[in-house]
Amino acid sequence: MTLTFTRGDFPADFQFGTATSSYQIEGHAQGGAGRTHWDDFAATPGNVDRAENGALACDHYNRWEEDLDLVKNAGFDCYRFSTSWARVLPEGRGTPNPEGLDFYDRLVDGMLERGLKPCATLYHWELPSPLADLGGWRNADMPEWFADYTHVIMEKIGDRTYSVAPINEPWCVGWLSHFMGQHAPGLRDIRATARAMHHVMKSHGCAIQVMRDLGVKNLGAVCNFEYAQPCDDTPEAAKAAKLYDSYYNRFFIEAIFKGSYPEDVLEGLGPHMPQGWQDDFEFIQQPLDWVGLNYYTRKLIGPNSGPWPSHEERPGPLPKTTMGWEIYPDGLHHFLTWVAKNYTGDLPLYVTENGMSAGTKDTTGGTPDPERIDYLNQHVAKVKQAISEGVTVKGYFIWSLMDNYEWALGYDKRFGLVHVDFETLSRTPKASYQALATALSRA
Ligand code: FCB
Repeated sequence: MTLTFTRGDFPADFQFGTATSSYQIEGHAQGGAGRTHWDDFAATPGNVDRAENGALACDHYNRWEEDLDLVKNAGFDCYRFSTSWARVLPEGRGTPNPEGLDFYDRLVDGMLERGLKPCATLYHWELPSPLADLGGWRNADMPEWFADYTHVIMEKIGDRTYSVAPINEPWCVGWLSHFMGQHAPGLRDIRATARAMHHVMKSHGCAIQVMRDLGVKNLGAVCNFEYAQPCDDTPEAAKAAKLYDSYYNRFFIEAIFKGSYPEDVLEGLGPHMPQGWQDDFEFIQQPLDWVGLNYYTRKLIGPNSGPWPSHEERPGPLPKTTMGWEIYPDGLHHFLTWVAKNYTGDLPLYVTENGMSAGTKDTTGGTPDPERIDYLNQHVAKVKQAISEGVTVKGYFIWSLMDNYEWALGYDKRFGLVHVDFETLSRTPKASYQALATALSRA
């Protein structure tokens, strides 16, 4: 199986990249990093499969040069990585960890030496435990603490980053982690959710302000999107899917570009929002240079008789990845055109994550991954379509460079272009990696 696109099918300034995140690959027990709420979540029975954590992960902390060589040798232009708050500031505030700052300093230089553009994300979910003790994202001081952290890390590397986004996937930080309880801190609490969703947005805006003041260039936001479809043609199912779409897909981007939250979400969250939230849009609405979309799947939604939001996911009929996620490339085309039309206009858009899990923890290096090549073909075709229709898509990043710690599902879900043997930590490029190297070398 081969890739059906080449670099030459895209405009000359179109960028290809691959993405990772700090806790998922670095090995967080090393280099003086502080404890995070993911360490605590994973240490609590029942939260994470096999109670796996990111203490060692892919040992990228020691193997980063080999990993950057892999990014370069695939022919990528950009590398999207994240910096860990707890590695930079082990207590969340106060004294920085010099080893942590040096690590990101070397990493960014390593990218530049290899001709790769460093695309940084400042928070990909590893909240320092001392801040979790204070309520984490529920605490109204979070925007200030996040702004301070942003200052510390960007003062060190912000002169060399190509692009920066403060927070990866606000929906996951707010809803998945505080309403559904599936990610750290594992809460199922509507009041915590309302506060987290708002404080995340305010923190995003404050971090953008800090970086503008520091003169850091090319600042954006990375949101995730899931195509929400009614499970049948009843009005109840239509309403259920619309509400899902509102809190998943609209809440964050609407805050940034329109200065409001969707009405139907406020019907549920309104009574639980932090005091004075209406006055915070002046922070949240900082102008951006680009927007990143992370896209994987669609969901079928139907009503139920529970409390608000009174709906649930229903099983869908489409082929699925080993995450159980339906493969639905049309959703990517939908969101690229929908975001441009309703929110961003001509602002550059990037697909900052797209990819699939295939195989299990036991899958050995050298096992072919034709399903991933097929997935990439189908989704890249939708990016091409959106560009041909006039949407300013400027880049496409594959999740992920290598197999890594897939959060509550541990090391069983393999998203990598490169296989990682979690016993020996050796890296083996998969067929999809080889196919990409070929596709990206063709003008
Ligand atoms: C996204 C996350 C990323 C990874 C992929 C599969 O939501 O940003 O860390 O877990 O899903």
